[in-house]
Order: sequence, then C-alpha cells, then structure tokens
Amino acid sequence: MKEIKRDWRQFAFRTRAVRAGHERTPEGEHAEPIFTTSSFVFKDAAQAAARFADEEPGNVYSRFTNPTVRMFEQRLAALEEGERCVATSSGMSSILATCMALLKAGDHIVAASSLFGSTISLFNNVLTRFQLTTTFVPLTDLDAWRQAITPDTRMLFLETPANPLTEVADIAVLAELARTHNCLLVVDNVYCTPALQRPLSYGADIVVHSATKFLDGQGRCIGGAVIGNEAVGNALFGFLRTAGPSMSPFNAWVFAKGLETLDLRMHAHSRNAQQLAEWLTTQRGITHVYYPGLTSHPQHELATRQQKAHGGLLSFEVDGDRKEAWAFIDATELVSKTANLGDTKSTITHPSSTTHHRCGPEARAKAGIKESLIRISVGLEDIDDLKQDLQRGLNAIR
Ligand SMILES: Cc1ncc(COP(=O)(O)O)c(C=O)c1O
Repeated sequence: MKEIKRDWRQFAFRTRAVRAGHERTPEGEHAEPIFTTSSFVFKDAAQAAARFADEEPGNVYSRFTNPTVRMFEQRLAALEEGERCVATSSGMSSILATCMALLKAGDHIVAASSLFGSTISLFNNVLTRFQLTTTFVPLTDLDAWRQAITPDTRMLFLETPANPLTEVADIAVLAELARTHNCLLVVDNVYCTPALQRPLSYGADIVVHSATKFLDGQGRCIGGAVIGNEAVGNALFGFLRTAGPSMSPFNAWVFAKGLETLDLRMHAHSRNAQQLAEWLTTQRGITHVYYPGLTSHPQHELATRQQKAHGGLLSFEVDGDRKEAWAFIDATELVSKTANLGDTKSTITHPSSTTHHRCGPEARAKAGIKESLIRISVGLEDIDDLKQDLQRGLNAIR
C-alpha cells in the first residue's frame, strides 16, 4: 500500500476533495478511472515474490491493493487529515475491523449508549463471544466514562453527534481521558463527515465511517473506512489483507466522486435541517425536537464550537406512542420511508422498530429511543416542499 500524499495538506479542503488521491495513468485520463480487476500481472516470478513479500510496492490482488480503492482512501485521508485510510466493505465492517485489528481477547471497551443499533449489537452480541466486553455509558456524562474505565480498557468508542438523538460529546476532553488511560479514542464521524468536523484534529486516534451515508451522498453504495496514523493503518491493512472485508473498486469510485461535492452538500443539508428543526419546534403535536443547531439543544454551544455546521440529521417525538409515530410517517408522501440517511433525498425512519430494533428494549431504553421518536435525514429538496410534506404527518396525528 502506498504512502498517503502528505503534501495535499497545503491545499484547502475543497481542493483536496476534488484532487487528492488521483495519479493519472499513462492514458492521460482527466476523471478518475475504475480498475475493475481482481488481480494484477507481474513482469516475472521474481517480481511476484517481491510484491508478495512487501519488498516492492505495487498492486497484487484487489482484496488489499486496488488503485481505485487507494485513490478513495488517499482522498478521504486527506480530508480527515489522517496519515492513513483503509476502506472497508461497509460501515459496520469498518468498526468490526477496527476492533479485530487493534484489540485482543480480554480487552474492554467503553462505548456511548447512544450509538447506531447495529454497533450496539456488534459490541453486545458478537464481540462478547471473543471475550471482548463493553460497558455502555451516557455519551455526555464524563464521570461515567471515567468510572467505567478498568485496567483492561483499551478503547473508547462514540458517535458525535449521536444518531438519532443528536447528543454531542466533547472530543478533545474524551481524547485526553483516553490518552491518560492508554486507550484508543474511536469516533464514528458519520453524522458530520470531515466537511463539518475532524475528530483527529481534536486528539481522537481513529475515525470510522459508513461511506454509505453522506460520503456517497446519493444512496448508491455500501462501504466504510477507517482513518488514523501509520500504526493504525498498518494494523487495519494487515487485518483487511487477511480477513478480506474489502471495498469494491466500483464503490470506491462512487465514494471518491461523492467526496468532490461533500463540502457543498453538508452545508446545504445543514441549512435545510436547521430550518426544518426550527419549524418543527413551533408545531402542535411535536413534544420534542432533537437538533444541535437549536439554541435549546443541551450541547448547542459545544456543537457550534466543535463543528462547522450542525448537520443534516434531526429527530423529534410526536405526542403519543408508536401508533402516532407510524401514522405521521405513513401520511408523508415526498420524504422516503427508508432507513438510510445522508442522501440528497430526505428520508424518514421510526428508529425503535427499524435501526434500533435488534438491539432490544433494554438498550433502546438506555439510549433514550422512545416509541414516539421519528428521525429525518434532511435532504436537498426545497424547504417549503419538505414542510408541506411533514404537515401531512402533523395533520394525521392532530
Ligand atoms: C452512525 C452509523 N455508523 C455506522 C453505520 C453502519 O454503516 P453501514 O450500513 O454502511 O454498515 C450506520 C448505518 O446506518 C450509522 O448510521
């Protein structure tokens, strides 16, 4: 695997987003090519041996060396300001690979209780079978993080803002705590993306991504990524090479092209979400709106300091229970009833019965996911059309 081009750091974010990672081939192509090939040809047996032994740089086999995947990795590393990025087949496999590559049986994780449902399931139901245990703590309770750390703790894991209740953690403070206890701080940066927040610059050790979300931005492909320093990159690369949760070259190409418009999109998503959140707070039938851009949000000041904008995801509770939440969702016509987020098209979800269904009632209660909760990933449609559509939902529950 080639070194990331550190000299991209001299360029501004938007320049890196459209330029970093692409090394033109002798064909002189302007747009990035897709290398859809499983393996690569050696000039002779000695070269094959040298490549397999890592004595000579170059491509071998697309499970661990593919130029299009490398282009995406270098571009995302440049945006997150990390030394290395390793792309994975999904967001979940980026989290799994991080744990498999950097932890061992007997290690302990402290994680925020407000995490994506499958991440909770992974920690609770899968990693436990390999003697990796997790203690869940409220994201914003620093004392709880401190108290949960044991001599076996090796990793702190969080999302900020968290999906779907948008709680915000102070990354710099938790990074300091992690350093004091010789732990790795891992931040799932799905909500903000590097356009709005760069956790490594606040002292986090590792950023994980579901590229499926805002990095793609148009809901086309499943993928993930892990970004960190050289040591993290080497460990992840070694795991990926052996275990194989690799990204396909086609998906890498889609994601790399998605990165080109990331900055523009994230600010446009944030503007729409802010307007929608403010409007929802004024509506009868809505009992609570969760959005870090609202001055009433408990970590509004921190979010405003730590992030460049407040992001495209919001949630709210309707007056009632599951019946009213479903009635609201079913009455909408424009927003898509789908569990994905981070798309140009707005999506509406009932977290309790979908994204957080499998983590069980206890974990849901701990995470504060009520039956009355609805999540919206605010897309790039006209704001008046979005309001008109949500008005249909409101009419159904009044
Ligand atoms: C915050 C967060 N992390 C991780 C994931 C998992 O990503 P993927 O679906 O690409 O495996 C998701 C998916 O919704 C998510 O919202």
